[in-house]
Amino acid sequence: MTEAADTPQTPDFPRQRGNSYRDTWCGQVLADRVGSQVRVAGWVNRRRDHGGLIFIDLRDRTGIVQLVFDPDDTAADAFALGHKLRSEDVLSVAGSVVERDPEQVNPEIPTGAVEIRVEAAELLADSETPPFTIDAKGTAHVGEEARLRHRYLDLRRSEMQAAIALRARLVRAMREILDAEGFLEIETPVLTRSTPEGARDFLVPSRLQQGSFYALPQSPQLFKQLLMVSGFERYYQVARCFRDEDLRADRQPDFTQLDIEMSFVDVDDVIEANERLLTHVLAAAGIEIEAPFPRITWRDAMSRFGTDRPDTRFGMELVELSEALRETEFRVFRGTLDGGGVVKGMNCGKRDVPRSELDGLISMAQELGAKGLVWAFREGDGWRSPTAKFLTADELSALNAALGAEEGDLLLIVADAPAVANQVLGTMRNRLAERWGEIPEGVNELVWIVDWPLVEWSEEEGRWDALHHPFTSFEGELGDEPGDTLARAYDVVWNGWEIGGGSIRINDPETQRQVLALLGIDAEEAEARFGFLLEALRFGAPPHGGIAYGIDRMVALAAGMDSIRDVIAFPKTASGGDPLTGAPAPVDDRQLRELGVRLNAPPPAPSP
Ligand code: AMO
Ligand code: AMP
Repeated sequence: MTEAADTPQTPDFPRQRGNSYRDTWCGQVLADRVGSQVRVAGWVNRRRDHGGLIFIDLRDRTGIVQLVFDPDDTAADAFALGHKLRSEDVLSVAGSVVERDPEQVNPEIPTGAVEIRVEAAELLADSETPPFTIDAKGTAHVGEEARLRHRYLDLRRSEMQAAIALRARLVRAMREILDAEGFLEIETPVLTRSTPEGARDFLVPSRLQQGSFYALPQSPQLFKQLLMVSGFERYYQVARCFRDEDLRADRQPDFTQLDIEMSFVDVDDVIEANERLLTHVLAAAGIEIEAPFPRITWRDAMSRFGTDRPDTRFGMELVELSEALRETEFRVFRGTLDGGGVVKGMNCGKRDVPRSELDGLISMAQELGAKGLVWAFREGDGWRSPTAKFLTADELSALNAALGAEEGDLLLIVADAPAVANQVLGTMRNRLAERWGEIPEGVNELVWIVDWPLVEWSEEEGRWDALHHPFTSFEGELGDEPGDTLARAYDVVWNGWEIGGGSIRINDPETQRQVLALLGIDAEEAEARFGFLLEALRFGAPPHGGIAYGIDRMVALAAGMDSIRDVIAFPKTASGGDPLTGAPAPVDDRQLRELGVRLNAPPPAPSP
């Protein structure tokens, strides 16, 4: 029954006062209403002509109810209307609720035992034939571009209605618990100066100060720190953030954070408060999780999963094999180890994989940046593998032991620089677990990633980069080996998605200057870009810290959607466009003149 699959039925929706359009929601026309008169309104979901009778599935936000137009009960003008109704026409009808004939009962929907025998009907608006039918089949058929072009129709689908409603419910749960715990919701500006979070800024030219630009916030980071200096102590905001970066399934150029900051706290305080928050919010989605969540150090996450956002729902962990291969003469491994690289492997478990798929795995590894991939099946004390002949019996048994390999287990091994080996095997781990059905359904794993390095060396830029942002505090002193300094930072990862991250902040101007200098921002530039923060830190800035969540990501996970686009009412495509409004769009010359902006190239021709 597609009706049930495509329509959320919410009989517990608040009852409404009647008006001339309706007095009852479609989803509330239940068996207890049999014998009563109701007036309902909504969209024609489906129309069926059965000889003398016309059946209409009428849809509103709460569900679907069946209408029957029967010349015996239905006024002549209403019956004539019933004849010409088409999908998505908007209708108000009045009639009496009756039981359906037993063979007509639809157990899949709450209203399935009853129908409304229409007495009067009024067409409120008619609809052209929609470009796709309003169900999953219809939209699967046309693709995402068409869905977004007619988003208002796509959003009529029950799946989208449910996702948007879930979003509202989760945001309400966030406000509930934060309000209860003494947090104040405070808004911060959207037209502001750059707040670096590692992406490019979106810039807005100023008309009143030509040649100057606002930056849209990548996050409210600096303002929330200022609010701590102001003594608000506990702040939150459902904040729009803007980042000009390459888009993916889990990234949009504008997205929404739940942004939080607290004063007089340390890492444990923030983590505990957020475990309460997450437990409460996910409960609103019917997801039960248990606090405290496991904490994994960044170093362990990288070494065991090859990524700082590990999916811990399944095994296949990465194992460092360099020790087992200390003496090896196999050219590929020897060369890598001598060059300061690592050999890492993954036990994929007992698995029958044909030769063609193994070749595919090698290509996958190479596409991900590896030079090659060794595959092997444990066989007796050794291996069945084209590489077996290059390794000694002792090495093979040491590798089997290190990987915990049992008879028939498939082993995959990459030799490379640590970052490459981790990235390749970490990505393959996720993809193969998905392909081979290793990821358990209905399991939700939340973990904290802690003890991040404060900075990492960027070969490209020839300088240190902050792993979080430049305002993150750290353990101990900034010594000669900045790469060894641990940040007081934490990320929270849900089933392999980074849903939030934060840190304890630097709260004295000297340390803040020192870190900015380490990141290659000299005193003059620091003053120009962050002078207002450095100054504020001189006026009694309490110890403080916080976190921000990607609300879109949390809702997508809670809704079981693959892309955050499916939980945003009006998202952008992968190329950053909005097919509905046509944004971004060229502007006319007069507007540019007023802004003092001149284009280098003529604007593109408007798309049809
Ligand atoms: P961060 O940059 O980690 O931290 O962002 C916090 C969370 O926001 C989500 N997120 C995104 N969601 C959708 N599209 C995007 N383009 C996007 N970028 C980020 C992620 C991420 O975990 N100011 C700090 C927080 C702090 O230190 O308190 C910050 O913005 O889920
Ligand atoms: P070659 O002599 O380069 O063909 O490599 C011999 C075997 O080692 C082949 O099966 C390659 O796929 C594999 N191989 C090559 N480089 C690497 C590497 N960096 N890591 C893992 N396996 C590799």
